[in-house]
Amino acid sequence: MKIEFNFKSIKSKYDLYLGAASLGNKDKPSFLFQEKNINTLFSNHKCSKNFKAKLGETLSLNDEENKYIVMGLGNSKDLKSEKLRRSFAKFYRSLKTKNVLVDLDSFSKKFKTDKTAEILLEAIYLTRYSFDKYKATSKENGKVSFYSSKMTKAKFEKIDEKISAISSSVNICRDFVNEAPNVLNSEVYASLIEKDIKKNMKGCGVKVKILKKSDIKKEKMNLFLSVNAGSAYEPRLVHLTYTPKKATKKTKHIALVGKGITFDTGGYSLKPGGSMMGMKFDMGGSATLYGAFRSAVLQGSKNKITCVLAMTDNAVNAKATTPDSIVKGRNGKTVEILNTDAEGRLILADALDYTCDLKPHEIIDAATLTGACLVAFGVEVCALLGNDQKMINGLLGASKDADEYLWQLPIIDEYRDQMKSKIADLKNIGKARMAGTATAAAFLENFIKNDISWSHLDIAGVCDSQVHLPYCPPSGASGVMVRTVSQYLMK
Ligand code: BES
Ligand code: ZN
Ligand code: ZN
Repeated sequence: MKIEFNFKSIKSKYDLYLGAASLGNKDKPSFLFQEKNINTLFSNHKCSKNFKAKLGETLSLNDEENKYIVMGLGNSKDLKSEKLRRSFAKFYRSLKTKNVLVDLDSFSKKFKTDKTAEILLEAIYLTRYSFDKYKATSKENGKVSFYSSKMTKAKFEKIDEKISAISSSVNICRDFVNEAPNVLNSEVYASLIEKDIKKNMKGCGVKVKILKKSDIKKEKMNLFLSVNAGSAYEPRLVHLTYTPKKATKKTKHIALVGKGITFDTGGYSLKPGGSMMGMKFDMGGSATLYGAFRSAVLQGSKNKITCVLAMTDNAVNAKATTPDSIVKGRNGKTVEILNTDAEGRLILADALDYTCDLKPHEIIDAATLTGACLVAFGVEVCALLGNDQKMINGLLGASKDADEYLWQLPIIDEYRDQMKSKIADLKNIGKARMAGTATAAAFLENFIKNDISWSHLDIAGVCDSQVHLPYCPPSGASGVMVRTVSQYLMK
């Protein structure tokens, strides 16, 4: 539901009036509501003695007609955009009332009104999300309106349009990742993406091409096919192209390549039951990059963007690939498959080679690639590796702007050596489990050609349950990294 902008009098029309307070002189809170009488009401109330306006601290009051809640911003000097986003999300999550008016100006103590509006809107849209299509009762979201004397309605609506594009794309990524694997197989997944483009990106300049099994065979993507060998479903390679309206020869072309394993059993190198649970999220890389692509298209990015999503499950049957198999990839390199659970790098290998042939300036791939990423970074930080420091710095910058954690790991010759096989060009696992995230990237690097700048995001940790982020559902898909990549694509 859209968020409204309303200048009209607040009286009685809303169930709740939300404002902010900051820590003023002598540790006394200053109430920042636009209406002085509300501030006086708060200042004079005996409860406000204990209220210190600490970040996220709340105080509620009623008069005869209305209910008010104030949220503390702490010392506005120390306020950071992410702190405001998280505190407001937590605040919003706790509200019981359905019809709320937000006093935007009162929250704009540290940041400009525009920036504050962006942060609050994002917090609301992302916090409202819930995956409840299989529940008998679904969560009901109330109505929210904003109020400001420093901004026009037109300006507000422009900001809302931008934040809606970003947030709805984060939320569609979450929907795909949360969907059950018995419903979202590769064939269904590809057609849902096509449907979303037809519905929401008409006239935006997006071309859709979906490669079926026979096309993938023609492309000689044998590594991709080897992962699909044990599947009851056909693989799909979704290939999307966005061309901006004012494209010239100088237009930058960025390609995205996503891992779309709709379920990872491990194959013959079968995962134990406990580790298999949750492996529906193994298509998170493709959902994240589709979300970023969608967000950038809806915002009319100036860059040309290609999005290549490789979809299959990693299942087992009599035809499934066995460990010790040797398979030749699309680029002609042979791979000794020693562990069928290291399947993500196999499908990405062929998808990366396919994408290099399109000659983009840059490639970003994203994948829930290694359990080792969780060992290194926990669920909080996304790993970044690549072959071009300038591009990597650009992505690190975008992650700072989006307030998402991204950290670089190295690719060194010692890791590259670990991926060499005695009897084939490459093998698909390194030594033991050490440096697993980096050795996986060292493997992928073999499939980048034409001197293309390439960055790899291992989202194994950040893709799922982000309990520490109040604007993410406490369990299930997070959509983290959609905003970072989208931000990068908008540069
Ligand atoms: N999808 C998994 C990676 C993963 C595991 C993500 C656990 C999140 C939690 C991937 O396909 C995989 O199984 N990787 C193996 C690679 C190993 C066999 C070299 C892993 O990380 O154990
Ligand atoms: Zn696996
Ligand atoms: Zn996997």
